[in-house]
Amino acid sequence: MNSTPLVTKVILFTSCKGGVGKSTVCANLAMAVARRGKRVLLVDCDFGNRCLDLVAGLSDEVVYDISDIAFGRISGERAIIQDSRSENLFFLAAPYGFDNRMNTFAFRSAIRKLIAMEDGFDFIFIDTPGGIGEPLLFAASVADTAYIVVEPTRTAIRAAERTSEFLSRKGIAKRRLIVNKLTGGSVNKAKKEIISIIDTTSVKLHGVIPYDPELISAGNQGILIDEMLSFNVTNAFDNLAARTLGEGRRLFAGIKRLRKLK
Ligand SMILES: Nc1ncnc2c1ncn2[C@@H]1O[C@H](COP(=O)(O)OP(=O)(O)O)[C@@H](O)[C@H]1O
Ligand SMILES: [Mg+2]
Repeated sequence: MNSTPLVTKVILFTSCKGGVGKSTVCANLAMAVARRGKRVLLVDCDFGNRCLDLVAGLSDEVVYDISDIAFGRISGERAIIQDSRSENLFFLAAPYGFDNRMNTFAFRSAIRKLIAMEDGFDFIFIDTPGGIGEPLLFAASVADTAYIVVEPTRTAIRAAERTSEFLSRKGIAKRRLIVNKLTGGSVNKAKKEIISIIDTTSVKLHGVIPYDPELISAGNQGILIDEMLSFNVTNAFDNLAARTLGEGRRLFAGIKRLRKLK
């Protein structure tokens, strides 16, 4: 038995806009944190439209999902999948179809069971779908921190602002921005863009990820950063992982250049 039980940090990944990179950032950051020796459980909260299993390359292995734990059909130990690429990374799928018996109470009870598992987790990362719907409410009822994923477009920035206000009303005090898909050629240009995003949203910054086409092809093949080649991307996720663990790390450490999009 564990004499000092782990304190599990529960972090939700959100934005009320789709396509900004929530699932991509959530899955790759989970791998980056796992590679730093912490036990991470990835939970897909996109009920009825699950896709994190595809991004994480685990779709062939999914048998059970979070509703099986919530409704006591199966134990947490049997429902979660151990990732073959990292002994510290675990995965729990969302139900394939929407289960309308799922509610905040059932979701919370599933997360509590997972937190209480024998070996425990340092982190539970919950990927939510776009929009301010039930899945976000479920996740907000168990999370202590929200990473709001934003890309540098006016619509995504407005969505980040609204999402932050919503989560603040739901009692999530620790809300942080992850600026994804950064472009602009130079780091200095990107920094100006980031300051303007922080200013508009009034949310503190957690980290940045450059735009990189390798993330698109990797996402389509279920490949995570442990098998990617771009130093810009792998360093960016390692920076984010270090900051998630509370270590000091420069925002753009190891990020050499940013793509210029016309
Ligand atoms: N930093 C990035 N650079 C390039 N493409 C990205 C990046 N992050 C995400 N993408 C791509 O953007 C699309 C949407 O990403 P996804 O993670 O599914 O978004 P969401 O979960 O917010 O809907 C995918 O094709 C993904 O590969
Ligand atoms: Mg997604």
